Amino acid sequence: MSGPTVFANGSACEDLTTWGHVLPTSRPAYRDRVADWTGVGRNTAELYLGMAVHELHGVSPSYEALCRAVAGSEPICALLDKLPQAKRQPNLLLGAVRFLAGPVDDPASFLHFVTARWGAVADTMMAHRTQTNEPGRCATLLPLLTSLPQPVALVEVGASAGLCLYPDRYSYRYTTSLGEHRLGDSEIVLSCAVTGPVPLPGRLPEVVWRAGLDLNPLQANRDDDRRWLASLVWPE
Ligand SMILES: C[S@@+](CC[C@H](N)C(=O)[O-])C[C@H]1O[C@@H](n2cnc3c(N)ncnc32)[C@H](O)[C@@H]1O
Repeated sequence: MSGPTVFANGSACEDLTTWGHVLPTSRPAYRDRVADWTGVGRNTAELYLGMAVHELHGVSPSYEALCRAVAGSEPICALLDKLPQAKRQPNLLLGAVRFLAGPVDDPASFLHFVTARWGAVADTMMAHRTQTNEPGRCATLLPLLTSLPQPVALVEVGASAGLCLYPDRYSYRYTTSLGEHRLGDSEIVLSCAVTGPVPLPGRLPEVVWRAGLDLNPLQANRDDDRRWLASLVWPE
């Protein structure tokens, strides 16, 4: 008797996507990536400046300006230093201010808001985790998923609200040097620019079972959880 093929995806350590049980990096490099996110081993000003220079420059000008402003503000760094180290992450602070409807388009207003509303900002940071859910990743997983014997069962470790557990429910638009390759009829279209000889799928996967594991599962049908996920999306 043969059951569905089980595909396990995981990105439990924040942005580090793993394929099945195979970690693409060596252990020390893996630890370094985690340290990048949590700030372990660096002071708060270095953490925010590093985020501005290495992650945000050329991607999100407004967040780059905010992180540079935090790095240059001793009073704000002193407030952040009251939190446990893993809770001082730039993405957590930026998401918390957005969640509280604070200003993120002007560094001076941002710093003022963080100071004036520090209690609420700190409570929000303590109560949440960085849980960006990026279903766009399904476009990169699809060639592999459709190459497996069908049907498949999916397990995702670090699923957040589970939006990556529905690769069969989205539409896809792959842009290649030869033109566009479209798949699916959902109104939610995931676009993906393709370089190199990727075996583009000719069909959607047949998913017969799916499950997500998470330290803090979010529910897409809860207003606060949806608002938190939206607060984590960078403005640009
Ligand atoms: C950055 S989110 C990624 C969500 C989803 N995999 C995606 O790619 O859209 C990482 C998720 O992993 C979860 N997480 C972190 N460490 C974990 C662990 N040790 N066990 C289970 N979940 C974990 C977090 O709560 C968070 O929801």
